[in-house]
Order: sequence, then C-alpha cells, then structure tokens
Amino acid sequence: MSRTDILMTAPMMPIVIETLEKACTLHRLWEQTDQEAFLKEVGPRIRGVATSTLYGRLEASLLDRLPNVEIISSFGVGYDNVDAVEAGKRGIVVTNTPGVLDDEVADLTLGLLLATLRKIPQADRYLREGQWLKASFPLSTTLRDRKVGIVGLGRIGKAIARRLAGFDVSIAYHGRTQQDDVAYAYHPTVVGLAEACDVLIVITPGGAATRHLINADVLKALGPNGVLINVARGTVVDEQALIEALRSGTILSAGLDVYEDEPRVPQELIDMEHVVLLPHIASASVHTRNAMGKLVADNIVSWVEGKGPLTPVPETPYKAQVA
Ligand code: NAP
Ligand code: 8YV
Repeated sequence: MSRTDILMTAPMMPIVIETLEKACTLHRLWEQTDQEAFLKEVGPRIRGVATSTLYGRLEASLLDRLPNVEIISSFGVGYDNVDAVEAGKRGIVVTNTPGVLDDEVADLTLGLLLATLRKIPQADRYLREGQWLKASFPLSTTLRDRKVGIVGLGRIGKAIARRLAGFDVSIAYHGRTQQDDVAYAYHPTVVGLAEACDVLIVITPGGAATRHLINADVLKALGPNGVLINVARGTVVDEQALIEALRSGTILSAGLDVYEDEPRVPQELIDMEHVVLLPHIASASVHTRNAMGKLVADNIVSWVEGKGPLTPVPETPYKAQVA
C-alpha cells in the first residue's frame, strides 16, 4: 500500500519529523527552491499538513493547492495561524496542541509577573554593570496586597490561578461566560475587571474576536499602580495604546511575552526600562516543546491509521465515519 503524503510547511522539531517519517512520506515545503512548481506536482497527493507559526498564517491560497488535504496539524494550542473556518468549510480537520503546555506556560507567567514587579532582569543588569559596588539596587514594587485579574480563565488561565493561590493574592476573571464551577469573582466586562484589579494577566486566544480586547479604556481602568502581563497573543493588546499608557504613567508597568508583529518589537518598548520583554518563550522548554511536537505528529498518525484526530479544534469537529 502506498504511504500517505504529508506536507510540512516549516522546520519542526526532530520528534515531529522522525515520527511522521516512520508512518508517512514527508515533503518539506521550505526546502523547495520552486514552491509553485512543487505544489503543482505534489499538492494533489498531499492528504495532511503539519504547520506552525514559523510558516506564517496558513490561508485559503495554500489550501487551493492541496485539493485532497484532510487534516492540518498545527504546533501550538493557539491556532490563529490557521484559517480554521475556511478549513472547516472545505471539510478539513484542524488540530492543535492543548493541555500539554498548561503548566509550563503558567510557570513562565508567574515568573514574568514576579520579574516585572520585583525588577529581576533590571537587578541582574545592575549587578553585571558593576553598579552594586556604588549603591544598593532601588527598592521595587510588590505582589503583596495585589488584586489579580485573569482575562481568559481556560486551561492555562486556571493553571495560572492555581499558582497565584499560593501567593495569597485575590483572584478574579473575565471571559465571555461565567463559569459555574469557579469560585473566583467574575466580571462580565474587561473594563470592569481592570477597575477591580491592579494586575491583569491576559491568556485568551488570538484572532479577530479578541483583537485589541485590551485597549486604552482597559488600561485607564487598570490605573497608575496597574501591571499588564500578556502571554496570550500580541494582537489581544492594542500595542500603541499600551506604549502610550506606559509612557504617560496611565499604568505602572508591563511584562510581555507576545507582540503584534513578531519577532519585531517596537523600539519604544525596548527603550523602556520599566517593562520586561520576553521573546515568546512561555512554552519554550525542551520538555514541553517535545510534548507539543509529539502531539502534532500523533494527530496525523492517528488520522492516517483511521482512528481520527486526537485534538480537533472546535471550528472543525471530527465526525467519525459510521460504517
Ligand atoms: P482555552 O482553554 O481555550 O481558554 C481560553 C479562554 O479564553 C477561555 O476561558 C475563554 O473563555 C476565553 N476567551 C475566549 N475568547 C474570548 C473573548 N473573545 N473574550 C474574552 N475571553 C475569551 O485556551 P488555553 O489552552 O488556555 O490557551 C489560551 C491561549 O493562550 C492560546 O489560544 C494562545 O493564544 C495563548 N498561549 C500563548 C502561549 C505563549 O507562548 N505565550 C503559549 C500557549 C498559549 P470564554 O469562552 O468564556 O470566553
Ligand atoms: C508556541 C504558543 O510558542 O501554544 C501556543 O499557542 O503560542 C506557543 O506555545 C507557538 O505556538 C510557537 O509556534
């Protein structure tokens, strides 16, 4: 029997490549010098795609070249890099990597929050520059007595909340719906949550529905003692409004892992000493990236073996074929 042809759009971890190569014929799009000619010849044979944000957004224009594709397996729990609605219209299942990164992302979020409030990177720079020899590092702000609001109390939001509980801070949240089995205070609007809190942690999906959910009004409501932590997607925060709020003292500081135009980060943010900036690393440990990579490959292998995808996204629910 011929092996199933799978397209990989951009370089992926060895675990993905090795697992897929065992079960399928793997084609590497990024290695093709003439991608147009390659897609014309091989595109119709492709039945599955493995993709990641490194490729950019997987749009209808690529799907047009892959008329027989049935599954797109995307690296990452956020899948705003795939047009899942368009895929659904074409009967293509999209999968992501939920669950396997919750603890890692939550750990990093707490690290970023503490780094921002206690100025850990600034203190490290201070020592290395020899400034401690001249004077003690200035006293920092604190997590003590803070009220933390989580925007997006999903899998990762809950893992963040569990960790925050150990820090003895008050916790509230915003989402589109109130969750019955959650004891934290619910705020039906982001502005309401921001008014009630002095830390906002953003951990929603990206995409059109959450674009600029954190805008100038929210930042104003967060107030001059307020700290914004964004580990969701850069698009969820109006970056220009954030820069202005940080510049004018409308809020106190920010810790960011994600940006609107990655990997480009606005020079205004880079020039600010009172923000902490990370290069989208919340899930980026060897352990967790391997778990994510394994799930990317396992989704395709399970589908190739006729067992259906493991983690389809809600826009493209998998309906098992009834014989
Ligand atoms: P999840 O379990 O689906 O949770 C998403 C949460 O966001 C839900 O509680 C949902 O609540 C809320 N939400 C969705 N749309 C919203 C909207 N329009 N307004 C307000 N709240 C909304 O997802 P997850 O696994 O926790 O992952 C969340 C996101 O984190 C990912 O999609 C990704 O963007 C980001 N992420 C970033 C990194 C990183 O490296 N920085 C790593 C992993 C994940 P309702 O349905 O009630 O609104
Ligand atoms: C990855 C992420 O860094 O899972 C997500 O949604 O943002 C991260 O875990 C990203 O997907 C890398 O491609």
